[in-house]
Amino acid sequence: MYMKICSTFFKSSIPNYLILRTITLQSTKYSSNPPLYVSSNKNQRHNAWTVIDEFSDELRKISGKCMDIGCGPGDITNDIILPALHPNAVIIGTDISEDMIKYARKTYSKEKQLDFDVLDIQTKELPAKYISEFDHIFSFHALHWCFDIKQAFKNIYRMLRPNGTMLVLVVSLHPICKVIQETIQDNRFAPYIKDVNISPVWPFQDSVNPNRELKGLLKEIGFKIDHCSHRNVYHFDDNSDQFLSSILAFLEFIDNIPHDQKEIFKKEIARKFTETQISFKRSSDNKTVILNVYNLLIAFAKK
Ligand SMILES: C[S@@+](CC[C@H](N)C(=O)[O-])C[C@H]1O[C@@H](n2cnc3c(N)ncnc32)[C@H](O)[C@@H]1O
Repeated sequence: MYMKICSTFFKSSIPNYLILRTITLQSTKYSSNPPLYVSSNKNQRHNAWTVIDEFSDELRKISGKCMDIGCGPGDITNDIILPALHPNAVIIGTDISEDMIKYARKTYSKEKQLDFDVLDIQTKELPAKYISEFDHIFSFHALHWCFDIKQAFKNIYRMLRPNGTMLVLVVSLHPICKVIQETIQDNRFAPYIKDVNISPVWPFQDSVNPNRELKGLLKEIGFKIDHCSHRNVYHFDDNSDQFLSSILAFLEFIDNIPHDQKEIFKKEIARKFTETQISFKRSSDNKTVILNVYNLLIAFAKK
């Protein structure tokens, strides 16, 4: 299912997650680049390690059925999430992208313990096989790409068993989000950015208090919140290429841009992104490094 942006640059006091966007059924098939994501997701892996480590006591007790939503190529599901669970736990990684799931299945599937499936977490038709099935659900770096994060959380709630738990990491604000929004509005590219499967407008990007908004949303759905925090995160990178590659690896709508224009599009994103970054000479080795600063929401909640 692909979605058409209708209220993309709408700004108001209404929380972004409440803004409705029209949905169009599309047969167009674009592709993402799983190997590129695996080779460039150093920062995302670092965040995943950090949050898993923080909740390690709770996670080690989970011995039932788990899901990792928006698992991408599956490396984090396999390398970081699965080893943190009780040895009897089983996990299924799900993603909206067929290419990601195909790669994850081929690379990481483990009989009985780890499997992968295509699932759009915003679907209004949740497969019956997933309802009230899971003891725990993870989602890292994925839910902010949803057009309808409220529907996504409603689906997570429905998929959990009574007393089932959820650990999510949602990016609330990152300079890349405004860069993508500006670039896709550029007249040279806008005609090609018609049908996209992930939202370039993030649910909490204009929020004054993302933590309060997320808590309110989760409570409204019925979750009991054990933990919800909003944090500044920073990484030092040698250049911005690696992080940018990790984003371009799953922006499937880029494939719609003709080849020569696509390269210009990528350069334009890189140029604009560089302008948002702080670079400085590190005194310890005299090397120029880039400071990457952004904001995350972390929530651990129970059905
Ligand atoms: C940045 S990757 C995150 C991969 C991995 N979880 C991590 O932490 O690095 C974001 C993933 O979310 C997926 N995604 C975006 N919207 C989705 C949706 N509505 N349902 C399921 N997956 C979605 C994308 O296809 C992409 O693979």
